[in-house]
Amino acid sequence: MKPLTITSRLEVYESIDEIPDSVKVLMEKAAEVRDNAYAPYSEFKVGAALLLDNDEVVVGSNQENASYPSGLCAERTAVYYAGARYPEADILKIAITARSLKRQILSPVPPCGACRQALVEYEVKQDRPIEIYFMGESGKVVKAYSIGDLLPLVFDSSWL
Ligand code: THU
Repeated sequence: MKPLTITSRLEVYESIDEIPDSVKVLMEKAAEVRDNAYAPYSEFKVGAALLLDNDEVVVGSNQENASYPSGLCAERTAVYYAGARYPEADILKIAITARSLKRQILSPVPPCGACRQALVEYEVKQDRPIEIYFMGESGKVVKAYSIGDLLPLVFDSSWL
């Protein structure tokens, strides 16, 4: 047996005011769309904003459903819309923010596993990393240089 160590390099910013201006604008767009999320069941609202290489910004929020599994996360709402609207464009960055109507979320909220898998698909397709920034309602912001840093040992099309 040989141990296998997997490392990911992340960066932590103390607040939204520390991130680069262009990302701050993206995060503000994510916050705007977050507050209009349709989340009557969880009361946990998430917003995501994507910057594409054609300079377009595509946003998404979580959309819940009385049949719970039929709902969709903010990140996938955004990424699938980007794929539908701008199929040729590469995704450069994604900003994610979450807010609960029940309590204050002051720690960075990472994307769920299913959204990481969905995002990695586009990273592989475009053969270019997607930078990801995530935060709570306020407080620290975490940056990863690639979705791959959040999803090691990825299952992708190379296995098929
Ligand atoms: N949610 C997201 O939109 N993104 C994530 O990465 C995690 C969870 C949504 C799904 C559901 O509407 C609510 O947050 C509670 O799980």
